[in-house]
Amino acid sequence: MALRNITKVGDPVLRERCRPVTEFDARLGELLDDMADTMYDAEGVGLMVTQVGVMRRLAVVDTGDEDGLVELVNPRIVRTKGEVVGVEGCLSVPDRQGYVARPYKVTVAAVDRYGKPFTVKAEGFAPAFCHEIDHLDGVLYVDKLTEPPKEGR
Ligand code: CO
Repeated sequence: MALRNITKVGDPVLRERCRPVTEFDARLGELLDDMADTMYDAEGVGLMVTQVGVMRRLAVVDTGDEDGLVELVNPRIVRTKGEVVGVEGCLSVPDRQGYVARPYKVTVAAVDRYGKPFTVKAEGFAPAFCHEIDHLDGVLYVDKLTEPPKEGR
């Protein structure tokens, strides 16, 4: 188990676009393991790879439902439905929360750590997937607030 530092808002790395993963090797597996450890340690529901300082298209998400830990390599949203406004926070933007409008349902296509394609359908937790995938393009939830940010969690 290895914890990685979580990059905080203000670091320009969070605003960069990540490159696709092209090497499905042991280092990728190690990175995904470290991301999951770091996410659970921080009690988050999703952790993007820019947040640990690596600029590849990777995310780990665990919404606490029966799917458990989902590792998303090169994820993209292929279908959305509806809209829901919910409260979001981000491990890279400490001690803040805000309201964001997101799709109610999403279908995400990705590959696993071995390069095998899969899709995941998220309902209810669709905003968590959208939030993480936004990070890949340097977008933070604070860019999308429906009202000014609130202090505290
Ligand atoms: Co975030």
